[in-house]
Amino acid sequence: LDTAKLHNFVTSNCMTYQINTYGCQMNAHDSEKIAGILEKNGFLEWDESSHQTKKADLIIFNTCCVRDHAEARVFGNIGALREAKENNPDMVIAVCGCMMQQEGMEQKISRRFPFVDIIFGTHNLDEFEKYIHEVIIEKKKIRQIQEGMEIIEDLPIKRAYNKSAYATIMYGCDNYCSYCIVPYVRGRERSRDMEAVVQEVRGLAKQGYVEITLLGQNVNSYGGNGNNASFPQLLRTLNEIDGLEFIRFMTSHPKDLSDELIEVMARCDKICKHIHLPVQSGSNRILTAMNRCYSREHYLSLIHKLRAQIPDIAVTTDIIVGFPGETEDDFEDTLRLMEQVRFTSAFTFMYSVRTGTKAADMQHQIDKKIKKQRLHRLNALQNQIIQEDAPGYINKTMRVMVDEVMNKKDEVKAKAENTKTVFLKGDPHMIGKVYEVKIKAARAGALVAEII
Ligand code: 5AD
Ligand code: SF4
Repeated sequence: LDTAKLHNFVTSNCMTYQINTYGCQMNAHDSEKIAGILEKNGFLEWDESSHQTKKADLIIFNTCCVRDHAEARVFGNIGALREAKENNPDMVIAVCGCMMQQEGMEQKISRRFPFVDIIFGTHNLDEFEKYIHEVIIEKKKIRQIQEGMEIIEDLPIKRAYNKSAYATIMYGCDNYCSYCIVPYVRGRERSRDMEAVVQEVRGLAKQGYVEITLLGQNVNSYGGNGNNASFPQLLRTLNEIDGLEFIRFMTSHPKDLSDELIEVMARCDKICKHIHLPVQSGSNRILTAMNRCYSREHYLSLIHKLRAQIPDIAVTTDIIVGFPGETEDDFEDTLRLMEQVRFTSAFTFMYSVRTGTKAADMQHQIDKKIKKQRLHRLNALQNQIIQEDAPGYINKTMRVMVDEVMNKKDEVKAKAENTKTVFLKGDPHMIGKVYEVKIKAARAGALVAEII
């Protein structure tokens, strides 16, 4: 690969790139890797504000397929580039990410949008540099969708923030929840070596990052594929890193949340008092049909243990309404569970059929109108809980990291370890610093605090 030739071409033409990212943090982090590869090759990030008419020279769509709508939106956005590409054939258009791993998707895009230059899947990121070379220098078209198991280390990464960073600790998922497409598009579960993760995080702390978010579809089963490490062990090691202040992780699966993990969370001072623990449904019948491998009672016992050992821990969740066969009684079980747990926040979704998953072929698919009504009722209850619980934060102390200066000059916005937004008196030099604060006023949306 003649990287010098590519670099030369890119820089002498001042080529710019723009990445459109859909979906979860995992995808956002992949986009940071794509940006890292592009900048290593001389590309500059396209700045919307400074180019009114000219589009970026390279436009990428990093897609998601976990729930619907994404496909329509992505297709609409690719289609909107047809004319620009006709006027400027040197423009490069690339499409990648989870959607590309779906059967027939590459062919579908190739047929409808033959002008797309690069289509590649979730297992081909390490070859992206080669693809841009082949497209720009050799004028080829790329169609590369593979199955993959390898873990690629050491891709360059252009991180979006300089105080807070993502680190992937595991890829893929083996759980096959019956509604979920992830195991099919992200492949089998595999964990990074603990040493590689620890080194990456140490390096980030040295560069001045204070917050790290560990990513994986099911971080609690980290190390399960025989590399002799466990998630609690990884957390204990990371907690010793100087300079690091906030350790976060997502997502945890209730079936794999161990007592040891709860104990480590309680003991390690840098681990944020927050757990994202998707419950999906409050009905045992639906949980079984979802293949979640836990009961409502088990979930509630986990919440009880977490709160007993980590007072004030924030619990957030994901919930799906309208799974096939969900009756009004099942749904009311979910409402009751929400009332019992009182989540700090909840991401709520209407069940969406994913072709190829087990639930797609189940009988008694729920009417869209009922799904909408249930979603509305669920969100109303969660909002009510947030309202009701707000005053309870007054006089509490918590750790926050400042991330933004507000328009009002002497005010800054911070994120608390429990995910709450907190406003403080302050100035720009506080950005990226961690403070212990006391809450003075509380609204549903945000808290107001003083440094103590
Ligand atoms: N329909 C609706 N929601 C889904 N999720 C995953 N698959 C589907 C689907 N087919 C939700 C789950 C998961 C979150 C990331 O997305 O709640 O936890
Ligand atoms: Fe999907 Fe279930 Fe795996 Fe989460 S644990 S990615 S919901 S299959």
